[in-house]
Amino acid sequence: MGCSLKPTEVIQSVLAGRTFQPAKAEGKAFAPVNIALCKYWGKRDTALNLPVTSSLSMSLGAIGAHTRIAPVDGPDQVWLNDEKLTDADPFVSRLRAYLDLFDPAQHYTIHTASDVPVAAGLASSASGFAALVLALDDLYGWSLDPTSLSILARLGSGSACRSIYQGFVEWQAGEQADGMDSYAVRLDADWPALRIGWIECSSAPKPIGSRAGMKRTVETSALYAAWPDQVARDLAAIKQAIAQHDFEALGSAAESNALAMHATMWAARPPVSYWLPETVVTLRAVWQAREQGLPVYATMDAGPNVKLLYLADDRERIRAAFPQLHEVSPA
Ligand code: DP6
Repeated sequence: MGCSLKPTEVIQSVLAGRTFQPAKAEGKAFAPVNIALCKYWGKRDTALNLPVTSSLSMSLGAIGAHTRIAPVDGPDQVWLNDEKLTDADPFVSRLRAYLDLFDPAQHYTIHTASDVPVAAGLASSASGFAALVLALDDLYGWSLDPTSLSILARLGSGSACRSIYQGFVEWQAGEQADGMDSYAVRLDADWPALRIGWIECSSAPKPIGSRAGMKRTVETSALYAAWPDQVARDLAAIKQAIAQHDFEALGSAAESNALAMHATMWAARPPVSYWLPETVVTLRAVWQAREQGLPVYATMDAGPNVKLLYLADDRERIRAAFPQLHEVSPA
């Protein structure tokens, strides 16, 4: 429906005449990591990061990216966790490509502190791009509404559009070619007892980025045709489970959704696999614990690490069964 736009045209349309005149010396922002319970995997437009399906995530409270940005005359200077990055670093080129969409002539000093290992499948690009957009909004005093911020963040990384919000967040896929109806909304629901933790299976960089991995899956996996129907079912089940605080319904739909996403990847040619032997060991331990009566479910993204879903009341039993668990308690 409608006409596609270039990313620069989307930005102009969203900014609606706002300028690049700094309102302060430095813009500052925080954005949380989000973990998808119903995954985004596959694009209908790669330039605008428009997804094939909607997706649903939970933000992780105080865990995320803190970003400071200030205009500078010389070349860009980027620090990640207090380490200055070289121009050859892929993180720097990705940031630069994104900032070029706004104003190619303007350079910046950027400091980002991320609470999670970058590029380890723990959604660091999502919180990173969301924090960057919020920091630009702060620097230039744009005062954009959350929908506009979500659209801008999506242009950096699809899943970043969900990190504009805390809580449960749905990224509505939209139908328009220009993607102006493809943004995240916060669900009117909370579930303070729901916990996410994660088990590190490897902190090494992944063999293939999610961007290339999803492109190859869409183009070559025979199983991808089944993915939109799976998402439609899982999204409905997860929303209902959140509304009713039905943990088993939530966990089983989220786990099945993640495994189905990985199944589409395994069927790609060449296969897209983020799994390591430790991943399989961890998943089997989750299934065994559940058979023995412990309510725990797994989800995974584009990396080897496994995230666990559980309830606050079961925390001690979960810690005993998984001593290597990194606990996360969203605020
Ligand atoms: C597996 O948002 O990193 O984490 O839009 O190409 O930047 P790009 O992809 P990205 O993909 C995330 C995929 C996922 C699932 C999810 O978070 O929904």
